[in-house]
Amino acid sequence: MQTPEPSDPRSFWESRYRSAKIEEVSWYEPVPHLSLALLEIGEAEPSDPVIDIGGGASTLAEALTTRGFTDVTVLDASEEALRVAQDRWPTSADVTWRVADLLQWQPDRTWKYWHDRAVFHFLTDSSDRETYRKLLRQAVQIGGVVAIATFSEDGPTMCSDLTVERYSTEQLVAEMGPGFVLISSGHYVHHTPSDAKQPLSWAVMRRTS
Ligand SMILES: C[S@@+](CC[C@H](N)C(=O)[O-])C[C@H]1O[C@@H](n2cnc3c(N)ncnc32)[C@H](O)[C@@H]1O
Repeated sequence: MQTPEPSDPRSFWESRYRSAKIEEVSWYEPVPHLSLALLEIGEAEPSDPVIDIGGGASTLAEALTTRGFTDVTVLDASEEALRVAQDRWPTSADVTWRVADLLQWQPDRTWKYWHDRAVFHFLTDSSDRETYRKLLRQAVQIGGVVAIATFSEDGPTMCSDLTVERYSTEQLVAEMGPGFVLISSGHYVHHTPSDAKQPLSWAVMRRTS
């Protein structure tokens, strides 16, 4: 089978999710411990609109609705990933699911809380990172919170056969550009389903302007 070009995220990720069980992909975690901790650090309230960027089949949306969050959006390039997530629990209809390449996406509303676990590090092209920064300014409310986790400086250099950019916490904060102040940052070690250790950097920032 021909591998789709990584420059076409929709077909690349669709193929990736169709080729493996979700419980076997390296980024899978049954409970989104880090993501929930970052929401707590950002003082997210159940009434706050939250978007999970590149959320895929993560269990985060389910964890949020279980905790009473009423306005949760999950955006991902893969329809299959979102289908897997939606089929998992009965109240998934309360979540807004969006299939889109975030680099082509035009947000039609704003959110108080932007969450990204292991997506930004796939943007190896500086113009794609500039697009991401523009999206943050369009989609995150002033006073809102951005929580991002990427592979850290000593983390893997690749994921799903794609090269990634690795970040220290300082580099990650600097990447977001002006208009964001750091609330907190740190490191976390993700254990893959095959028990490999993947060091992550994370940062929680408030949008001030
Ligand atoms: C390593 S997985 C992480 C999934 C999820 N955030 C989690 O923590 O379980 C990367 C995710 O980003 C999505 N993704 C990658 N590039 C994307 C893009 N350009 N637009 C939208 N989603 C993208 C993939 O489909 C995949 O679900």
